[in-house]
Amino acid sequence: MDLGISGKVALVTASSGGIGMNVARRLAMEGVNVVLLARSAEKLETLAATFRSEYGVRVLPVVGSMLDTSDHDRLLAAIEGEFGRLDIAVLNTGRPPSPLRAALDETDKSRWDQSYDTLLSCVIAISQRAYPLMAANGWGRMIAITSASTHMAMPHHALSTVFRAGVEAYMKHLSSEIGKDGITVNCVAPALIDSSHREATVSYTAEQIARRKEISALKRLGTQEELASVVAFLASSPAGFVTGESIRVDGGMVTAALHR
Ligand SMILES: NC(=O)c1ccc[n+]([C@@H]2O[C@H](COP(=O)([O-])OP(=O)(O)OC[C@H]3O[C@@H](n4cnc5c(N)ncnc54)[C@H](OP(=O)(O)O)[C@@H]3O)[C@@H](O)[C@H]2O)c1
Repeated sequence: MDLGISGKVALVTASSGGIGMNVARRLAMEGVNVVLLARSAEKLETLAATFRSEYGVRVLPVVGSMLDTSDHDRLLAAIEGEFGRLDIAVLNTGRPPSPLRAALDETDKSRWDQSYDTLLSCVIAISQRAYPLMAANGWGRMIAITSASTHMAMPHHALSTVFRAGVEAYMKHLSSEIGKDGITVNCVAPALIDSSHREATVSYTAEQIARRKEISALKRLGTQEELASVVAFLASSPAGFVTGESIRVDGGMVTAALHR
């Protein structure tokens, strides 16, 4: 299927590694020019060089933090300066504080504040700044990466889920406000996506990985490419009548839970 987005400009936040990087790569494969935002300058430069040479697209790496509103302003100014337009914004974030705890044990307010900043407030701030550039062309796609835990309670995920649910609620409201400008607004809610790239920082034991596979209907983890492809579809022209949705990419985890 031709996604019809070659030559468009996409911002992918939190994109020096993991899901953000793989989404940016997937869009670059479609001929989309990409803007990367993360704190690691060296990783961004390496990725930019790779995407340019492998996919022949323009890449604007912006070094900055999702947590700093002056970086948000600088980011949007850089996009306007380099491309003069923005068509697609994939609002991916860093992770909540680790390790997560049981809901009743999350008593430290600073962890809630950190989670709010990391998962929700920056998504709202960047989407508000991205909107005028999209509206100017009467076409846009906003896609927030949330979590399937907004659809089903997962052990120790309350701290993270509360704010992802906030993102989903915000994006739903936004979709009804800015649809008139030709902009669709959706969420992609993953779970059980292979994160072995993070082995150094988060290690699931073999037992935990087996358990994660077991709770999916497909009895395996999802790949980064499978997740990125769903995001790319929502960013596409053919997906133009889909808005206000949250699409789970969880290998059937939520549905399978009803059968256990
Ligand atoms: N894997 C799953 O199944 C799953 C399920 C549900 C939700 N999620 C969520 O999906 C998101 C991405 O997951 P992931 O596995 O790709 O995480 P990851 O491997 O830890 O990557 C996080 C990315 O965010 C960037 N980042 C972190 N803090 C940042 C900040 N303050 N400013 C700018 N960039 C920042 C990091 O780059 P720098 O360090 O260079 O800044 C990195 O590129 C997370 O919110 C995760 O909780 C994942």
